[in-house]
This record gives sequence, C-alpha cells and structure tokens, in this order.
Amino acid sequence: MGRFVAFHCRACGERTPPEPAPRFACPGCGFEALDVELDLAAIRRTVTPALIGARRDPSLWRYRELLPVAMPRDDEGPLRQVGGTPLYSSPRASARIGGARVHIKDDGRLPTGSLKDRASAVVAMRARELGVDCILAASTGNAGVAIAAMAQAAGMRAIVLVPAAAPPAKIAQLMLFGARLLLVRGTYDDAFRLSREASRELGLYCRNTGYNPFTVEGKKTVSFEICEQLTQQAARADSDPSRAELSAPDAPPSKWLAPDRVYVSVGDGNIIVGVAKGFADLLALGFIERMPRLFGVQSAGSAAIANAWRQGSEHIERVSSNTLADSISADMPSDGLRALRAVRDSGGDYLVVSDSAILSAIVELARDATVFAEPAAATAYAGLLHHAQESAIPPSEDVVVLVTGTGLKDVAAATRAVAAAPTTIDPSMSALRQALS
Ligand SMILES: Cc1ncc(COP(=O)(O)O)c(C=O)c1O
Ligand SMILES: [Zn+2]
Repeated sequence: MGRFVAFHCRACGERTPPEPAPRFACPGCGFEALDVELDLAAIRRTVTPALIGARRDPSLWRYRELLPVAMPRDDEGPLRQVGGTPLYSSPRASARIGGARVHIKDDGRLPTGSLKDRASAVVAMRARELGVDCILAASTGNAGVAIAAMAQAAGMRAIVLVPAAAPPAKIAQLMLFGARLLLVRGTYDDAFRLSREASRELGLYCRNTGYNPFTVEGKKTVSFEICEQLTQQAARADSDPSRAELSAPDAPPSKWLAPDRVYVSVGDGNIIVGVAKGFADLLALGFIERMPRLFGVQSAGSAAIANAWRQGSEHIERVSSNTLADSISADMPSDGLRALRAVRDSGGDYLVVSDSAILSAIVELARDATVFAEPAAATAYAGLLHHAQESAIPPSEDVVVLVTGTGLKDVAAATRAVAAAPTTIDPSMSALRQALS
C-alpha cells in the first residue's frame, strides 16, 4: 500500500521500510511492538470527513484510506462486517456519575463478540498480502476466536494457543471457527511465550497482541467510529446550544467531535494503544481538534501497567495475575511501554479496580445501558464509577466507555454477578400469583 511508509520503533526511534515480509521486531534494538506509519500528510490531501460521511458501508472499511491494508471482497462475510458497533447514550449512567454525558461503545456486537475482530480483520488482510496461508496466535481467548473467524473467512488456517482454563464459550467458538486449537496447561503468558518460539522456529505468521504491528491498525478504528458517531448524535440534538457550531444534519460535517474522556480496560495494553492511535491519526488529519484523555483500567489482580504508572516508571515488573477478568489477565503485558505512553501523552491516568467492583459493574452496565459485558469489558465501567467517586467529573464532559467483549463469553461470571437465583414455578396461575405476591 502506498500510504504505508514505515515501521517505527518507539523504543529507539528507528524507521524500517515496509518490506513485503513479516516483521515483528525492530532491527535496531529488538523492541517487539512496532508502529505502522502511514503517510498522513498525503492522506490529508484527499480524504475528508465528508468523503467518509457519504459512504453507506458501516464497517471499519469505510475508513479504508486510513488503513495499511487492502479491503476484503464484498462476499468475504465477517471480514467485511467488522465495525459499525453502536454508541449508546446512557442517561442512567450520567446520573450515576454526576451529570457528565456517558456514551457506551458496545464492541460486544462484533461478529465474534469482541473488539479483537477489528485487529484480526486487518491482520488477516496483511497476511493475504504476504502470501501467508496459516496464522498463529496465543490469546486469553477473544483474540484467538477473532483470528480463527477472520482467517477462515479469508480462506486461511489458524493455529490458536489459549490457557486450558479459558471460559468454555471461547473454547467452543474456537472449535466452531475451525482453528487448530491447542489448550496450554499454563497461563496466558506461557501460551504467549510458546507461540513466539513456535513462530520463529516453524516460520509461522503470528498475530499476537503487542507483537504483530497490524493489530493496532484495526483497533484504532473504534476511535474513528466514536468521533463520527458523537458528531452525528450531536448534529441530531440540534437544540443543544453548546453544539451550535455543528452543521445541519443533512450536510456532512467538516470536522468530527472528540469525546473528553475514554475509559478502556487494559491487560496487555494493545487496545488502549490502538484507541490512542485512532485519535492521533484523526488529529493529524485535522478531523478532530483535540485529543481525549485516556483512562486505562486494570484489575487489581493483574495490574502490572498501573503499578509502573504509580511509580512513574517505564519499567514494568512481572506480576502473578489472579483475576476473574480472564481477558485482562497478563503477568507481563506485551504492550506495556506504548500503553503507558498513550495514557501519559493524553493527560489521562491508570485506575485499578477489584474483582468485586468488576462483578458489580457487570450488573450496573446491564441496568444502566442494557449492555451485557464480560468481566474484562465491564472493567472499564467499574473504572469510571470508581473514578467518579474519587474525583468529580465535570458535567459538561462527554465520556465514552469502551465495552470490549460480550457477556455471553462468560456466563458463569455473570451468574456470579447477579447473585440472586431465579424463581421456579409450576405452570399454574395460582403458582404465578403466589410468586408475584
Ligand atoms: C474483552 C477484552 N477486554 C479487554 C482486553 C484488553 O486488551 P489488551 O490486552 O490489549 O489491553 C481484552 C484482551 O484480550 C479483551 O478480550
Ligand atoms: Zn528499536
């Protein structure tokens, strides 16, 4: 792709040309979470919010010029269906946090039920360009499911390594989507280490989070959607005088609105890096005028990045993770450095919440926004509620909470969260009356 100009290493600054071969590490220093650099100045000359706004395609491919890979064909099913998830306003959530407008971005609605579809669709297209026919991934579950589905749609094979203790729904999805599934007796970190070794020794193309540079390029599209959708919503709410600068709903706006804050659940740190890259791209293109503040939320049982943040250090110490939020359980996060810098550069913060706060947030999100989240996805909402108790959130702000995976991924956790058991009755009116009395 002409617009993809270099791999960039944030650790040492080196730029590497985008050769048509897999690249995972910086040739200068060995750092393993490279950025994909696009020629944003050239893109800025031809792509406008109006051009994108006029497109009917709701998927992430509506932003095709801002992506480093070619678009899949129309008939490639889920590869073409990733993106376009709803952004709900939640007046109940707003009331709960003191008045700021709360918007829930529900990526549990993607084809395999998690935000990882965005990354996997883009990685699958990169793999096609490289002529690869098999993709390897280690995952807590969701990324593996997503690459299994996207590889299958692209006519490729996938080999997926997940911890043997992954939730049964994720394992079932992996079996259904045709992956060669290997359940590893060990943690996610064990599976990650093994997959990197296998990638090197067996010459397999690896999708791993914080390792394959293209995951961020897919994940950043969630930020494009947030800004475009906020703008559409504000244009519809034309009675709000604070939004008077926006154009009428029938004229595509020449700028997009950015939220004030975004809350993101963090394990390896790759999603928040992608979210930051999305806003940074839009800023560089002149589509938005300011960067939102990013708030990374970790579980107290897996808080390696937040620990480093508290110490003001870029050195991340391994932890021994123990949290029910399996998707954000990472002993040694693979994208920690970039995740720390993404939050720092945005003027945000890292927050830590307990497993019991995560379980409560599953219930609160269901009640406040009618969204069913898996534990790792409800963590962002737990962070917002915790934050609102600690420090006032100005009522004038637009706050986005990213829901990264559906609750159907982990029904056992949801059952724990609701605590109360349902009532069972005989099929008679008297039994029903008695139960309701
Ligand atoms: C549902 C869900 N939320 C959050 C995350 C955290 O993303 P990251 O590990 O990139 O920080 C994941 C990653 O697996 C996930 O599946
Ligand atoms: Zn380097």
